[in-house]
Amino acid sequence: MSIPFITAEEAASYIKNGDNVAFSGFTASGTPKVVTVTLAERAKKLHEEGKPFKINVFTGASTNDHVDGELARANAVGIRTPYQSHGDMRKSLNAAEMNYFDLHLSHLSQDLRYGFYGDIDVAIIEATEMSPNGEVILGAGLGMTPTIAQMAKKVIIEYSSYYHNSFRGFHDNYIPLDPPHRREIPIYKPSDRIGSTVLKIDPKKIIGVVPSNASESIKPFTAPDEVSQRISENICHFLASQLREGRIPKEFLPIQSGVGNVANAVLYGLGENPEIPRFEMYTEVIQDAVMTLMEEGKCKFASTCALTFSDDAMLHFMENIDFFRDKVLMRPGEISNSPEVVRRLGLIAMNTALEADIFGNVNSTHVLGTKMMNGIGGSADFCRNAYLSIFSCPSIQKGGKISTIVPMVSHLDHSEHSVKILATEQGVADLRGKDPRQRAETIIENCVHPMYKELMWDYLKLSKGGHTPHTLKAAFALHQAFSEKGDMLQADFSKFV
Ligand code: COA
Repeated sequence: MSIPFITAEEAASYIKNGDNVAFSGFTASGTPKVVTVTLAERAKKLHEEGKPFKINVFTGASTNDHVDGELARANAVGIRTPYQSHGDMRKSLNAAEMNYFDLHLSHLSQDLRYGFYGDIDVAIIEATEMSPNGEVILGAGLGMTPTIAQMAKKVIIEYSSYYHNSFRGFHDNYIPLDPPHRREIPIYKPSDRIGSTVLKIDPKKIIGVVPSNASESIKPFTAPDEVSQRISENICHFLASQLREGRIPKEFLPIQSGVGNVANAVLYGLGENPEIPRFEMYTEVIQDAVMTLMEEGKCKFASTCALTFSDDAMLHFMENIDFFRDKVLMRPGEISNSPEVVRRLGLIAMNTALEADIFGNVNSTHVLGTKMMNGIGGSADFCRNAYLSIFSCPSIQKGGKISTIVPMVSHLDHSEHSVKILATEQGVADLRGKDPRQRAETIIENCVHPMYKELMWDYLKLSKGGHTPHTLKAAFALHQAFSEKGDMLQADFSKFV
């Protein structure tokens, strides 16, 4: 059967107001780049004519400007889930111009298969190779692609000619059976392959193929700043101490590392620390640092959902693709983030917090309790099930007007029951085996910025007893002070005594 080439306009014309549309990819990597631009144009035109046009957007994780940026600016999104990180999408959902629900990344594929959110009307999938019988080699990110390819009523392929070398062999396409038939996911070490390199899509569902030659447009990371570097040093020293004490096995354990500059700095730090042995990764994204660590021999293998490399780093990867062939495997998000596999492999999970409280609860998503930043992403898939779960953040933000360590988090993503270690540039708090009072003392002593220490001790002294020494009427005094006076340091606990 031959599958026709079609224009982006023709492809977009198959997408109707109210459709559930699902996208391949994970981060910008492997995410379509063409059809949504045309779709956004159509939405704007229809809105000008007074006609409604919004689609519901389901993705593996964050996307790119072509999807989240274009659709948000065109006010063309009805419901969006799970993770997003685009400024325009963030603005739109915080202004309640669209509906957004945040979800663990490992959940969405199975939630779709369970039928929780209705049918998938259209899937838009980026392919880097394709045969007439619907066999596809995906691109630099998997996300939910196997599930959406299977479920969608119609499939549009964006055929990317950007990559000058083949990704064949890097993917591990796999869909677990759903309950009550599910068996174990048979991954016993990060490099175990369980699925297929090729994704088979029913050719009868494929409307057509739209050519594309855009890069992922991922910008390089800035060099780690001093604070990120100090956080990295603290975490690396801590991990080395755990190895010495035998609390981490001498072979070390696979690493999961979150996104952003601190995560990159920690990975470089692990690379430079002579006490940390060569390690493997079982994670959801690998960034530029991992490629360097592989070339230096420090990182032996990475199981990931996406190659979130900057454009220059991606070109380097492509030029040296044979070196990486036996060192990288890309899996669907429900496998890269599978709680079952995370628990079995015993990961060291390292993620970033926006805010943490003195009892070890973590807020990763909501600025000052109300404004959505990006979403929970995979952080809870990993944190709740890891061997060792580490959260880090700078101790202050906005020049010290905000303490990231507060009496009570203004939104809860990861509870004290899952968070084992908290690290800032000030130091590391090991929360294992400590009761709430002891946790508070350790966090104030080791992680709080010196300018906020006295305030935190004042808060603890307010307590009239109980197991977790909170004083509810004062618990948000720092947030209150920031919203009224623009400075958390203006909080005053004397009025609550
Ligand atoms: N209160 C108010 N604002 C805060 C804040 C706080 N407690 N903490 C940070 N901010 C502000 C910063 O000042 C900065 O503002 P700016 O954009 O105006 O400069 C912004 O929030 C981002 O802070 P930054 O420290 O640069 O964040 P980051 O890039 O390191 O990302 C998270 C941190 C938490 C947003 C990010 O890691 C994330 O989305 N995590 C959730 C998902 C996840 O963990 N994914 C990986 C799992 S595998």
